[in-house]
Amino acid sequence: MTAFSVRTATAADHAAYARLCPELGVDDPIATPERFAAEMAETTLVAVGEAGEALGYSFYQPMQSTAYVRHVVTAPEARRRGVARALLEAVATRARESGCESWCLNVEPKNAAARALYEGLGFELVYHSQVQRFAWALLEHHHPPLEEHAWLVDPSADEAVEKAMRLEAGQLALGRAAGRVLMMLEDPDKEVVGMAQFDPAFPGAYPFRVARPELALDLLHALRSHARTGDSWLQLCIEGQPEVAALLRERGAEVRFDMMHLRG
Ligand SMILES: CC(C)(COP(=O)(O)OP(=O)(O)OC[C@H]1O[C@@H](n2cnc3c(N)ncnc32)[C@H](O)[C@@H]1OP(=O)(O)O)[C@@H](O)C(=O)NCCC(=O)NCCS
Repeated sequence: MTAFSVRTATAADHAAYARLCPELGVDDPIATPERFAAEMAETTLVAVGEAGEALGYSFYQPMQSTAYVRHVVTAPEARRRGVARALLEAVATRARESGCESWCLNVEPKNAAARALYEGLGFELVYHSQVQRFAWALLEHHHPPLEEHAWLVDPSADEAVEKAMRLEAGQLALGRAAGRVLMMLEDPDKEVVGMAQFDPAFPGAYPFRVARPELALDLLHALRSHARTGDSWLQLCIEGQPEVAALLRERGAEVRFDMMHLRG
C-alpha cells in the first residue's frame, strides 16, 4: 500500500482539482484557477502520495455550525486505500476547529461506494432531492400573482430567511460573498415564502426553496431577469420537496439526477 498524507490545497493544486472533479459525475462547471484560488483552496484538502502526486481531494464549506462537504474524490488508481476516509477525517478535524458541530453532504442514491463511505463515518439520511433542468421558455405563459413580492435578500434579512427556509445559518452570507444572486419571495403578511441562490454563470439555483409548490414558478420568474443573455435554461436542486419537483416536471422540467442529503 502506498503511503499518503493530507494537506491544505494551494492555488497550484488547480490542475489536480480540474483532473479529479469530473469524477463526481455532476454537471457543475470546473472552477477557473482564479475562482479555485479565491473561493476553494483554503477549504480544500488534498491527499498526496510519496512523490507529491495528488491522489484525491475534498472541498468543504464551513458555515456557522455546519460544514458542508461539497466534493470528495479519489483518483481511480488510488481507490480503496483509505484516501477518502482520511480526507473526510481531516475535514472533520478542521471543521471542528472552526466551530462546526455537524457536517452534511449530498450523494446520488446509486453511488454505492460513496454511500458506504459516508455510512461508515456516521452520516444519516435527512431528505431526498432532485436536480432538474428548467427551460426559461416553460415560463412563457406564467404571470406571477401580484400579492407575492420578489426581492434580492438584504444582509439584514439573512437570519430570518435562513430560519424560514430551513437553510444553514451563514449560508446566505457565503453565497453573497461568492457573487450569487440571492432572491426571496414575500407574501402580503411579509412572511418569507421562497428563496433561491442563483449562479447565472452555471447557470443553476441551489438552494431553491418555496413554502408552496405553485410558488416555484413565481420564484423562477423572478430569477429570469438575472439569467445571462442567450442562456435558455437553468439547473435547479429541489431538496426534500417532492411535490415541488413533481409540479416542475409536470410543467416540462427535465430530470437530471436524484440526490440524498446526509448529515452527521
Ligand atoms: C467514493 C470515493 C470517494 C471513495 O474513495 P476511496 O478513497 O476509494 O474510499 P476509501 O478507500 O477511503 O474507503 C472507505 C470506505 O468506504 C467504503 N467504500 C469505498 N469504496 C467502496 C466501493 N467501491 N464499494 C463499497 N464500499 C466502498 C468502504 O466502506 C471503505 O472502507 P473499507 O475499505 O475499509 O471497506 C471514490 O470511489 C470516488 O472518488 N468516486 C468517484 C467520485 C464520487 O463519487 N465521490 C463522491 C460524491 S458524493
